[in-house]
Formats: sequence, structure tokens, C-alpha cells
Amino acid sequence: MNWKEVDQGWGDQARVWATVMEPRWWPEFDAVLRASEVGDATDYLDIACGSGLMINMAARRGARPHGVDASDRLLAIAKRRTPDADIRHGDMNALPWDDATFDVVTSCRGIWGPNQQAVHEAARVLRPGGRLGLSFFSATRESSQIGKAFKAIRRISDHEVEQSMRLGQIGLEGRAEEMCEVAGLEAGPRQGVEFELEGADLDHEVRAWMSAGPAWMAIQERGAEEVERSIREELADLEETDYGVRTQVVIEYVVATKPS
Ligand SMILES: C[S@@+](CC[C@H](N)C(=O)[O-])C[C@H]1O[C@@H](n2cnc3c(N)ncnc32)[C@H](O)[C@@H]1O
Repeated sequence: MNWKEVDQGWGDQARVWATVMEPRWWPEFDAVLRASEVGDATDYLDIACGSGLMINMAARRGARPHGVDASDRLLAIAKRRTPDADIRHGDMNALPWDDATFDVVTSCRGIWGPNQQAVHEAARVLRPGGRLGLSFFSATRESSQIGKAFKAIRRISDHEVEQSMRLGQIGLEGRAEEMCEVAGLEAGPRQGVEFELEGADLDHEVRAWMSAGPAWMAIQERGAEEVERSIREELADLEETDYGVRTQVVIEYVVATKPS
């Protein structure tokens, strides 16, 4: 898909993504911001920033925040949340900033497995000594239940089977580190953060997943009703009386430094 078409999927449910899905990932954002040392006066860029919660959290830590995403409708919410941030509509494979602009660049589940060009671009806009924080789904940790939601979408969408096999590669042992090294960065040790995605009930959970890009693809193929039914069935056993639907997630991340 051309980056200019990304908004068709990711933007369609932008308000639901921003309010129902995105806030549940705050432990990942917090871990990556800390590990890449985003703080007072850091010139900071988030790639594939979506509706911009990460940018807002960086601004609250004192950073000078910037963001880029391909979805206009997600970006409209990001701009509303953090009006002073420099937030641009653009392609992660051709970032609209000059070389050596930032102290820290991050991307949380924004840069995926085969996309070496996006890591090259992240390295290009970093200053010498600057850091790239890259997070992704663990491909190896068995405690993660996130595969259930993807399975629900994959089992009814041929497109998603192919896509997710390709994109998930970044989580494989050593793969993200290799992508950083190929781009001239020195990758630090892989770290992880575990948390539970919290849904009030199955309706809430289904609503959250229906707002994500992969669901949109499946909806085009099979219709919303079938996708909803599949997600509901697959996640039903994660619902706990008094605690709602809780999905254990394992995120891994790497912080890579640009040599001085
Ligand atoms: C899984 S979401 C992650 C969003 C955000 N980092 C978060 O954690 O909430 C993937 C994001 O990548 C964006 N995206 C997809 N292709 C892109 C491209 N070529 N350039 C910039 N953004 C892109 C989508 O619009 C979407 O916001």
C-alpha cells in the first residue's frame, strides 16, 4: 500500500483508536521514553506517531516534540492534544526533516520487520550521539496473548496472514538489532516490558481492535460483522469477572546510538 493510502485504514476510526485503543499502550511508551532518555529540552521525533499520546508524554517530560504519520485523521487528534508540537503528515521512508536534527527518535510498533529504509531515515535525522528507541511485539515470549487478537483477524483475512508474517519479523531474535547496525547505529541490549491491555468488557475490547489498521483490511475483505464476530469469539476466554478483558502483552525494545 502506498503511504498516501494509509489514512483510509488507520484514519477511518481515528477517534476510537485515540480514546479506546491507544491509551492502553502507555506502559510501552513510558518504558521507551525512559530508556531512550527523553527529558528536558530533548529534540525529539516520534515516527508513526498516530494520534500522538507518545508525543504528549514526551512534552510532559520537557522535550521539544515532533511527530510524523501517514494518517491525516490521526494527526488531527495528535495536533489537538499537543498544539505546540511540530507534527507533520509524511512518509517514514522519506522523513520531512534535515539530517542531524534530533537527539532522540522513537517508533513504537511503527517501523516493522522488513522496512530497513525507515531505520536508515531515522538514523539520518539523528545527531551524532543521538538515540533511536524502537519497540515491537516480542516474537519469542510465550506469555504474550496478543497473538489472539491478530489470529482473530488473520483467520478470516488472507491479506492479513501474509502481512503479519512479514511484518512480525522485527520481533525475531537479533532482527531489530541487525536493522539498526545496517543503518550505522550501535544497538544496545534488548529489553522488555510486560503489561495487560485492559478492556471493560468484550464490547469495549472488540471496539478497540476494530479501530486498528489490520482490522480495516479484513473488514474490506469480509465485512465488519464477520470481523467483529471473530474477535469476540477469540477473546471471549480472556474476560474475567470483576476485572474485564485482560490481554497480556510483551513488548520488546532496543535503544541504538549513532556514533559520535
Ligand atoms: C500500529 S500503529 C502505531 C501508532 C503509534 N505509534 C501508537 O503506538 O499508537 C501504526 C501507525 O503507522 C502509521 N503508518 C503506516 N505507514 C506509514 C508510513 N509509511 N509513514 C508514516 N506513518 C505510517 C499509521 O498511520 C499508524 O498510525
